Amino acid sequence: MWGICRRTMVKVGMAKPCGLTKPSHLVKPVSATRVAGRYLTHQQGLPQLPVPPLQQTCERYIMALEPIVEVDELKYTKELVEDFQKAGGVGERLQRGLEKRACNTENWLSEWWVRLAYLEYRMPVVVHSSPGLVLPHMNFSDKQGQIRFAAKLIAGVLDFKTMIDNETLPVEYLGGKPLCMNQYYEVLSSCRVPGLKRDSVVNHARSSPSPKHIVVVNNSQFFVLDVYNSDGTPLTVDQLSLQLKRICSSSVAKCTEPVGILTTQHRDSWGRAYINLIKDKTNKESVDAIQRSIFTLCLDGAMPAVSEEMYRSSAAVQMLHGGGTQWNSGNRWFDKTLQFIIGEDGTCGANYEHAPAEGPPIVALIDHVVEYTRKPEMVQPPMVPLPSPKKLHFSITPEIKRDIEEAKQNMNKLAQDLDIRVIMFGHFGKNIPKAYKMSPDAFIQMALQLAYYRMYQRCCATYESASLRMFRLGRTDTIRSTSSASAAFVKSFDDPNKQNAEKVDLMEKAVKAHRSYTNMAINGQAIDRHLLGLKMQAVDDKLSIPDLFKDAAYAKALHYQLSTSQVPSKTDCVMCFGPVVPNGYGVCYNPMNNHINFAVSSFNSCEETNAADLAQAVEDALLDMRKLLEQNPRAKL
Ligand code: COA
Repeated sequence: MWGICRRTMVKVGMAKPCGLTKPSHLVKPVSATRVAGRYLTHQQGLPQLPVPPLQQTCERYIMALEPIVEVDELKYTKELVEDFQKAGGVGERLQRGLEKRACNTENWLSEWWVRLAYLEYRMPVVVHSSPGLVLPHMNFSDKQGQIRFAAKLIAGVLDFKTMIDNETLPVEYLGGKPLCMNQYYEVLSSCRVPGLKRDSVVNHARSSPSPKHIVVVNNSQFFVLDVYNSDGTPLTVDQLSLQLKRICSSSVAKCTEPVGILTTQHRDSWGRAYINLIKDKTNKESVDAIQRSIFTLCLDGAMPAVSEEMYRSSAAVQMLHGGGTQWNSGNRWFDKTLQFIIGEDGTCGANYEHAPAEGPPIVALIDHVVEYTRKPEMVQPPMVPLPSPKKLHFSITPEIKRDIEEAKQNMNKLAQDLDIRVIMFGHFGKNIPKAYKMSPDAFIQMALQLAYYRMYQRCCATYESASLRMFRLGRTDTIRSTSSASAAFVKSFDDPNKQNAEKVDLMEKAVKAHRSYTNMAINGQAIDRHLLGLKMQAVDDKLSIPDLFKDAAYAKALHYQLSTSQVPSKTDCVMCFGPVVPNGYGVCYNPMNNHINFAVSSFNSCEETNAADLAQAVEDALLDMRKLLEQNPRAKL
């Protein structure tokens, strides 16, 4: 079955040892017309996610705890682990259950993971779950420029959509192996829907007829914009510009209630408010139109003026949560899987709801769109008259008004609480670690470990996302960046009693240990999802939860004070997200060849943390690590 795909797809980066390989710009579809069944054939050729051996996970779990828990705690946990994995014990029973589940499902993990990590996670999606993406500043600074750029952006997304619809997207590779492409089919025409205890995601892409409109938000008002002509061809950039102008001129005043702000609420509150909102027929029709739309496009108003140095940080605020109700937080529908955001001043980016996909497919789509907007404009065919875009109406009862007011207050508190700092580290990028024959990602992760250790004189549980897309319907596992090797490295780095040669040796060992954990994770052999699976199996089998999962060390291992992710791109952009614990940091980075973009977030309500301080400490750590290598004759280029 692989044969068909091999013949039809563009093969890129097959020989590469590692690294997620994206097709080069502009992505050329493998065929101009539909290749029906290609997607399914590709998917069926992918391996299934394995269940790692029980003993291996137990051993590796203890190793992962060593640098982050006390000696006494570790001793106790070792006893629990022994008991859990003993012959004929509960661990073996759960392992058998998991293996059976793996035989009977396409992916034993994905459904549980989406449910637990997203749909049953009740914190607001805004800041706590949905990442923002900051694009480079675009070349316009007024309403007219905003509209023209928005029109090109829509055309670019529709161009990419053609490849999804035709099943002609070039397959991506990681470490020479083909990746699951499912997430690309989940991001357009889909939307999260709030529930009372659990949310769901609706995907209209495969419904018949499939959606032909996007929703444009301007001044917190929603409009349906049909983006295809009646003959099925996409609207031209001129046609789109005209329609966007019409939308802007019929939504000048900010006189309506910002209904979209409801999507920023705690999920239980939004779930209750949602039932009430859609009781009304008009409201239901309006919400349906948003949910069914291909994506939303938010034409933003101004944001507070900031210095040039703070520009990217302010743009990150705009993409992550809109800045609060006096700025753009009401100009969104945060449940929508994909929202493009365009300011009048040339600030652009996106926000996406995380349940259907990880960052890399979103970034691949956006890379394509940005490249598309840079193409010289073609001569446009004569304009066909079009009906005006339809405004979506909402009837606001006193109860809905109360919900909106409550959502506004909570959103403003959250906006006040979030501190975010975006920096462009310009001294070097992937080039330097590569020159020293080190994995750039591992090098950056070790710089983060060093920065954190210098600030707090301790190591903390650290999460880095690893792609499981080598497997069918694969999502992510955790790379635990804090290891005994990383702890030895950071503890020695500023120790005047240690020789440089020894420090270099410890750095190399720490970098290698990280890369080896990465390989283990992307091959489905990491510990975190396996442990989660064993716990979920106990729930499914209606067994009492094993003590291992009630242990303080397990809670400590999951309290990620550093939650990190690499999201690489062709465009010079950076993704950003909030911390996952109140006293933690969220760190997302995009390593380019000669520089690295970082977005660091923390909460102001936590006195211990400070995004700017960590960002500075990371810069210092990267420079000091390079200096050490340069000074040491052993670490030759
Ligand atoms: N010497 C020289 N070069 C090396 C090297 C070494 N020892 N080790 C790696 N490299 C090179 C690679 O070949 C690659 O080259 P390229 O730039 O030409 O592609 C480059 O350095 C980058 O490799 P590395 O830094 O090791 O990272 P990676 O690209 O393999 O990525 C992960 C590592 C963990 C980020 C990746 O496997 C992954 O899982 N990505 C998905 C994460 C995700 O889903 N994030 C989003 C969550 S929302």
